[in-house]
Amino acid sequence: MRIIKVQNKELLAKKATELFVNVIKNNESPILGLATGSTPERMYELLIEKYKNGEICFANVLAFNLDECVGLAPNHPASYRYYMQQKLYNHVNTEKTNTFLPNGLAIDLEQECNMYEQQIKQTGNIDFLVLGIGENGHIGFNEPGTSFNSRTHIVTMTENTREVNARFFEKIDDVPTKALTMGIATIMEAKEIILLAQGERKADILHKVIHGGITEDIPASILHKHPNVTVITDIAI
Ligand code: F6R
Repeated sequence: MRIIKVQNKELLAKKATELFVNVIKNNESPILGLATGSTPERMYELLIEKYKNGEICFANVLAFNLDECVGLAPNHPASYRYYMQQKLYNHVNTEKTNTFLPNGLAIDLEQECNMYEQQIKQTGNIDFLVLGIGENGHIGFNEPGTSFNSRTHIVTMTENTREVNARFFEKIDDVPTKALTMGIATIMEAKEIILLAQGERKADILHKVIHGGITEDIPASILHKHPNVTVITDIAI
């Protein structure tokens, strides 16, 4: 696990963008794994700038998101599809048919999870996967206690995660209770992973991830077993 310590949020986004750009430039048809949330927002803005400057092209990019909330339509402002469209896809030349998220409106959610897993497998291994981290150590929506062997699956969000997500909704009761997420084993098959940990709120958990043992109680701790992980953080560690 490589750790890149930067001074602030802006430099974190710049470093993440630099690694992202390398992957896009060095792969003919890069397969990406992408996160939503507040942490990667600035990175997506910088990527849009680089696209507009002609530095990078998304025409051959395939992208699988980590997760999606159950019950939200793609045009719901709190859905992750909506986030991806607003923060990145509407501004670059990705093909809509090349960008994937689990379908949170699927009638049969189990089947949807299996299909998403199959889609990733058939496309090939993810070349470059961007992760944020939850205050409880979750990656994707793999909450503490999730098996390290898990594949794409349905999760019940913890109360903490729902409270953190409540900012996108009028009231806490509107926050979805379930999500579909890539599993930990799926995440671990990516060839390269970057974990972005930004701000004091994440300091405690990042210390545990970096200095503690590997345990299912802290999903991100599994990353110690991955051969190519870079943690980019503005937290003193
Ligand atoms: C989002 C995701 C989550 C977030 C994490 C951190 O697709 O998979 O694991 O990365 O909850 O969220 P922020 O960046 O909002 O602190």
